[in-house]
Amino acid sequence: MVIAVIGAQWGDEGKGKIVDLLAERFDVVVRYQGGHNAGHSVQIGNQSFVLHLLPSGVVHQGKTCVLGNGMVIDPKAFFEEADRLMGQGITITPERVKVSSRAHLILPYHRALDHTSEERLGNERVGTTLRGIGPAYEDKAGRRGIRFADALVPEVLRSRIERNLEDANRIIEAYGGQRLEASPIIEETSAIVERLAPFICDTSHFLNQAAARGESILLEGAQATLLDVDHGTYPFVTSSSTVIGGALVGTGLAPKHLAGVLGIVRTYTTRVGEGPFPTEMLESEAELGQLIRERGREYGASTGRPRRCGWFDAFATRYAAEINGFTSVALTKLDVLDTLDEIKVCVGYNLDGKKCDSLPAVSQDLRRVEPVYETLPGWKSSTLGMTDLSELPRAAREYVNFLSNHIGVEIGLVSTGPERSQTIIVRESALAKWLRG
Ligand code: GDP
Ligand code: IMO
Ligand code: MG
Repeated sequence: MVIAVIGAQWGDEGKGKIVDLLAERFDVVVRYQGGHNAGHSVQIGNQSFVLHLLPSGVVHQGKTCVLGNGMVIDPKAFFEEADRLMGQGITITPERVKVSSRAHLILPYHRALDHTSEERLGNERVGTTLRGIGPAYEDKAGRRGIRFADALVPEVLRSRIERNLEDANRIIEAYGGQRLEASPIIEETSAIVERLAPFICDTSHFLNQAAARGESILLEGAQATLLDVDHGTYPFVTSSSTVIGGALVGTGLAPKHLAGVLGIVRTYTTRVGEGPFPTEMLESEAELGQLIRERGREYGASTGRPRRCGWFDAFATRYAAEINGFTSVALTKLDVLDTLDEIKVCVGYNLDGKKCDSLPAVSQDLRRVEPVYETLPGWKSSTLGMTDLSELPRAAREYVNFLSNHIGVEIGLVSTGPERSQTIIVRESALAKWLRG
């Protein structure tokens, strides 16, 4: 059984918590795209873990973790994270952590190019994490990229770095940046790739074999649907396929193994970085946005940037459900809304006085759309830590049902706090069946 977990909004929906929770029932947990631009938080008692490159399942000692071919991996960031996790008592060994030989490397010039690219864009900048993600994917699509399999061959690593750096330096210098020298990059990368060698293997083969043996596999999406390079709010997106298609491409798993897709949906919306955000709380609602930011601790797990906050966008989330074919939805952070008098939900967009049939493709249009809101009553009492639907105040239950109806997908789980135990599993949902095994 293969289940994919995919964010439905602009990221930070709580994928880390949900993957950690589900991982208990799975044998293998896999990241399939992105790199250390992700920040997935897992809270267990008073210990908190933030995962950037490693799948959130790594916190469970017995699970195998895979970094799939669709990822772009900064080998230095890998060991920084591995060392930090080992300091927290987590075992990171080649027996349980596997890195795809087909994944691409992020090298120092990718980070420099990420800076340059943002500077060149000026007011149009994306607000990237500056981790080199976009430039590494550019190299991949441009057929210049360096994969871990290539990096293990010293002559290939040297000649590719020398050639790519020549081009990179031209761009970096043209925009006033500091020229990078090849030798230290080659030396440093050779040493670190050698350290990584025991982790590198053909992960597609490993995963298909595991699936054929009947092992259960959890695919952990990073970023989210509205940041997808094809289906997101382009050009204000990340550079990978975050959606279900990307999960297959980015692992090499045959589609026949896929048993379901779980959408991770937050009870409100946030966005980090630039780009259109129709339901953002601005001007008269700025104070409310600040309240949610504080209650929800909405500061980037990777960059520490304050996240922009807004109302739930059922129209955009329905679009995400359509693209991914969500079987079930995990609704997170219900408790963050506990103090609100009223809660608005965007159920559609108008553009130039006309109702939109689907999400506008042009980002300028997305900036101009007028959200159509419905207002629901708040419940004004604590839901923190509740574990059964019947415990929820009526207005909270109605809010959950309202969202489910507008997204058009069952709610399989409601999250009422950052901890594993602060969770309601909806009996009879597809998600509950996956958990029963
Ligand atoms: P991810 O990138 O989707 O994994 O999400 P992040 O980890 O970046 O951000 C989600 C934050 O919300 C983390 O700090 C989680 O610990 C926290 N969180 C997850 N679920 C809940 C919840 O139901 N309630 C509250 N209050 N916090 C939650
Ligand atoms: P998780 O997995 C939220 C955003 C950046 C920027 C855009 C492109 O924790 O949900 P990039 O560095 O990827 O080229 O930046 O994407 N972004 C995220 N926003 N959560 C993330 O990851 C993100 N990863 C990238 O802020 O707007
Ligand atoms: Mg995050």
